[in-house]
Amino acid sequence: MLFTNVWYVAEFSDNVGETPTGVRMLGRDFVLFRDPDGQAHCLSGVCPHRGARLARGRCHGDGTVACPFHGWRFDGAGRCVQIPSQADPTGDIPAAAQVDSYPVQEKYGLVWVFLGDDPAAATPIYPMPEFENPDWRQIRYADTWACNVHWSKMTDLDHVHLPIVHGINFGGENPVRPPDHQAEQTEFGFRTKIVSTPSVTKGKWKEMRSERTKVVSRLAFMVPGFTLRGEVDIGGMDSGFKNVFYEISTPIDEENTMMRWVFFRSFMLEPENDQEHLKRNLRNIFQDKANGESILPRRAPDVEDWPVVRADREDRVMAAYWQTLRDMRRRGWQIDRVRLEALEQDGDYRVIPSPGRAENPAGWVFDEVPRCAADPAAAAPATRGVA
Ligand code: FES
Ligand SMILES: [Fe+2]
Repeated sequence: MLFTNVWYVAEFSDNVGETPTGVRMLGRDFVLFRDPDGQAHCLSGVCPHRGARLARGRCHGDGTVACPFHGWRFDGAGRCVQIPSQADPTGDIPAAAQVDSYPVQEKYGLVWVFLGDDPAAATPIYPMPEFENPDWRQIRYADTWACNVHWSKMTDLDHVHLPIVHGINFGGENPVRPPDHQAEQTEFGFRTKIVSTPSVTKGKWKEMRSERTKVVSRLAFMVPGFTLRGEVDIGGMDSGFKNVFYEISTPIDEENTMMRWVFFRSFMLEPENDQEHLKRNLRNIFQDKANGESILPRRAPDVEDWPVVRADREDRVMAAYWQTLRDMRRRGWQIDRVRLEALEQDGDYRVIPSPGRAENPAGWVFDEVPRCAADPAAAAPATRGVA
């Protein structure tokens, strides 16, 4: 279950330079490179000449990426500007000698790429107020999870798992029962809040919370980057000592996900505390990874068919997540994987359509991925239906 018309994170900015970098997203191949002015570009990574992977090519310092097979050069807009084998290499370029070029924004040290053809309809990239703010210390981490993007979100967003997997004690008569919670729509997705009374913290973090005190966790799901933002008052309510994390998930394909985290803390800002900060976050992350990678089926079923048994106090956060996906599907943004697989078994290669296809629908060697039909009722605003 993969979606177009979303801003995804393709790479950390530091990893993109003036040599081509291959990235696989939504089951497709892309190439990233930086031009001599420092602007990052993202193109469909398959050459329209004879299908070579552009990520295996070179940049020659002229703002293009050259194919490794016959050296055709493509600029940041995806147009072929040079065919070395021709008598006039820069003249007489066939109109179809072009690849899709996707909008790029660099924000928060991340290369964001818009994979779709309708940027005006997409959810904009959210603010990250802690970034480059001297009151916060930042660390980063990345890992590949062998599970689909929705299982990666489900192992984190789901409130019911918190006491079972992470041992978070909510207090009350039944400590395994999550507290009441609601999901509330936001400009970027939805958010929720829960209050817990965790045990006294141990080790280096002891100064943060030496007594049992209420801890508020604010969780938000944001469509750009399939991001979970968590904000935890690690020192107890109103202490001002916060752990904030952004967990950003980029689907590699239907069964694998590139996970990136940006963590911030507002206490113990010295770099020597980074290891402890990372270690405490990774403990939860590895517990979630083990769950996510074990869930069957490996591919997320279409949301309409999602086979859950509903229980008392069903997790409203997950209900909001499925509703968000349903809205995206009804807008016609979901890739139709059954049709796509049939086409590709028959020797086709399909690409994510870029905004440039709207003006020029016919001039492409590779056709676009088939998508599930839009439902006209989906034109309703995205504020509908959240639990
Ligand atoms: S396959 Fe790319 S230039 Fe020939
Ligand atoms: Fe979790």
